Amino acid sequence: MPIKREKSKILQQRAFKSMPLGVNSNFRYWGDDITPYVEKAKGAYLWDVDGNKYIDYRLAFGPIILGHAYDEVDAFVIGEIKKGLLAAMTYELEVALMEKIVEMCPAVDMARLACSGTEATMHAIRVARAFTGRDVVIKFEGNYHGFHDYTLWSTYSPDQAYGSERSPISIPSSSGIPRSITDLIITLPFNDFDGLERVLKSRGHQVAALITEPYQGNCGGIEPQPGFLQFIREKCDEYGIVFILDEVKTGFRIANGGAQEYYNIRPDLATYAKSLGNGYPVAAFGGKKEIMSIIGHGVAQGGTYTNNKPGVAGAYATLSILKNNPVLATIEARGRRLMDGLKFIFEDAGIQVFFSGHPSMFSFAIGVGSVTNSRNWSDANGEYYLKLADAAIDQGVMPDHDPREPWFLCYSHSDEDIDKTLEVYADIVKVVKP
Ligand SMILES: Cc1ncc(COP(=O)(O)O)c(C=O)c1O
Repeated sequence: MPIKREKSKILQQRAFKSMPLGVNSNFRYWGDDITPYVEKAKGAYLWDVDGNKYIDYRLAFGPIILGHAYDEVDAFVIGEIKKGLLAAMTYELEVALMEKIVEMCPAVDMARLACSGTEATMHAIRVARAFTGRDVVIKFEGNYHGFHDYTLWSTYSPDQAYGSERSPISIPSSSGIPRSITDLIITLPFNDFDGLERVLKSRGHQVAALITEPYQGNCGGIEPQPGFLQFIREKCDEYGIVFILDEVKTGFRIANGGAQEYYNIRPDLATYAKSLGNGYPVAAFGGKKEIMSIIGHGVAQGGTYTNNKPGVAGAYATLSILKNNPVLATIEARGRRLMDGLKFIFEDAGIQVFFSGHPSMFSFAIGVGSVTNSRNWSDANGEYYLKLADAAIDQGVMPDHDPREPWFLCYSHSDEDIDKTLEVYADIVKVVKP
């Protein structure tokens, strides 16, 4: 039986009048009459305005690494904000936070704060351009690096739009992105060793930065083929390109040192947000001292809110908890159980499924044997994935409404939550058919 959605529908009608699509971010609109409006969130759960309770696997697209409204973090933030929110001066807690980031992230000698992942990647790209004196940026199809114009290309277009793999067409993901930026962006399929080599042979010396997610956290969790990240590292060294690893989703989630630690890869710069602050508004970018040191010497970076107290205090408290407790190991073990359990359920029902990604942030593609890039990911049965997601939501289990988006786990998900989720999926695959 479908759940009650009356209050959400009424609130959506009201919201349509004051916000485009009735939301403050395009990704939050699922459709008319099915977009949830939230009342509150605590631990691993959220409640919509109709009073329906969900086990939350969206976790706000990843930031909630400990749990919603995590008491220890919130208490620390409340204590700190009473001392003032902003002073346009540096305070000691901020210095201590930067020391923690440098200590935890193997490739980061120095860092700067920002307010969102979008800002972090935007600043990192400027620094890379300033450092190399070049303008062109390489990114991979299906990766997402935020809303700024420089990389909002070839993120979620239908795969036919991208043209031949030998000479991919870069597709802007929004109207309003200046046409002239086409000259500054090269897009390639993920995991394409030959394509990268080919493009670098012809244009390598124009390229300032190659930016990539370590695995495709905005496209089905597609993992790098063995050696792909190392190949990027070698080629960036060969051509003097700044290698930017976008750890906005993976940082402080798949390991305390993020994907750098997990894949043992050392980019020149890395970007962070999301799990850094357990939901408080904070982001960072950092990397090699040689590169970061040019900031302030002819290279501009800053912002009124870059050291906002809730963000800084939230990040300080979150990183302290990550360092001193087996948070990520616990999440990984629960996530592994969930992945294995779902896999068993699908296999038992004779449904082919390909799982990818780390257990704390994983995805699955239905009806395909393997996936290596966003082009072959689109062969998966996204429609069936969505039908299952809708049925699960009706039973109180909430993955995102977009099959590209991973399932996120947090420290507050319990073994009982995993059991309940598996029970729900075991039931729905019996009734909802491909
Ligand atoms: C890999 C990656 N980079 C950058 C961003 C942009 O971050 P924000 O939404 O904080 O601007 C996101 C957001 O989902 C992301 O997943």
